[in-house]
Amino acid sequence: MLRSVVRGCGSYLPERIVTNAELAQRVDTSDEWIVQRTGIHQRHVAAEGETTSMIGLKAARAALADAGMDASEIDLIVVATATPDHTFPATATQIQAELGITEGAAFDLQAVCSGFVFGLATADKFLRSGAARAALVIGAETFSRILDWEDRATCVLFGDGAGAVVLKAEEGGGTLADRGVLTTHIRSDGRFKNKLYVDGGAGSTKTVGFLRMEGKEVFRHAVVKLAETVQHTFSETGLSGRDIDWFVPHQANRRIIDATADKLGISHDRVVVTVDRHGNTSAASIPLALAEAHRDGRIQPGQLVLIEAMGGGFTWGSALIRW
Ligand SMILES: CC(C)(COP(=O)(O)OP(=O)(O)OC[C@H]1O[C@@H](n2cnc3c(N)ncnc32)[C@H](O)[C@@H]1OP(=O)(O)O)[C@@H](O)C(=O)NCCC(=O)NCCS
Repeated sequence: MLRSVVRGCGSYLPERIVTNAELAQRVDTSDEWIVQRTGIHQRHVAAEGETTSMIGLKAARAALADAGMDASEIDLIVVATATPDHTFPATATQIQAELGITEGAAFDLQAVCSGFVFGLATADKFLRSGAARAALVIGAETFSRILDWEDRATCVLFGDGAGAVVLKAEEGGGTLADRGVLTTHIRSDGRFKNKLYVDGGAGSTKTVGFLRMEGKEVFRHAVVKLAETVQHTFSETGLSGRDIDWFVPHQANRRIIDATADKLGISHDRVVVTVDRHGNTSAASIPLALAEAHRDGRIQPGQLVLIEAMGGGFTWGSALIRW
């Protein structure tokens, strides 16, 4: 049985850091309010002219270097992003071209903050069916470009960044002892569109628009839906929170992360947290956190890593990976 094994992981954050204190000079907020409600202390913001494909490319190169693989070995690129460089062509094809790849397929996938989980689930299906041999799954975002910097309820929450993993199809025994992606669960429910959305688009307003959100409502749904999707993983595998070596959740809000971990019986010292330094980088948040914990030696080969996310749509999902 073919498994999608993580061969490498990399990330990139724009140089410029924006602190809460800096934001407090622009809108009516405070470091204390932001830290208490979200756990966020700072976020990175892309430079003028620094696009999603540029930062996604840097993360992809770092992941390939970590894997010790050449770009020519990649025959599938999935870029999860809600902030593409252009309406078309896909950001993925720009990264493909920069990597010098002319074979295989590259496309963008839009599931907002759940994008990386959806991208991983998609690439896993291609690899396990034999339709592709090696994939780059990239989460890359420049949310700073779709924020209303006058709206204190949203502009303090998000940041820019990119992360990537290299997946390779390898034979496994078909058990939970295999390395690679073991389970994926993805869901969506479009009835919740108005809770979290961008008020523009090529096909409607002909503008890009700004992010709008009913924060309290999103918070309420997030904890319930995230716990629910992980319970599917647990019931399918017979595992529980105590079996998870590393929980790498979407990094939207420290309170959502803690509440979800508590609901799932995962102790806080097994949770990878980056939201304090990155803010919510949407589809990039999980691969950024994976890359950090992989680089600093927390995540070791053979360990069980659980990822989950929820985003606009709503979309939500989870995946279990043996590293
Ligand atoms: C956004 C969020 C931090 C707000 O926290 P909250 O405890 O729900 O706060 P509320 O929205 O009830 O707002 C409380 C008050 O703080 C105010 N407020 C909002 N943003 C503020 C800010 N940046 N600074 C200071 N005050 C702020 C509100 O105006 C409100 O004031 P009011 O009571 O006078 O009307 C929280 O709802 C949240 O994290 N939601 C999920 C968001 C998310 O993760 N989205 C992405 C999912 S992928």
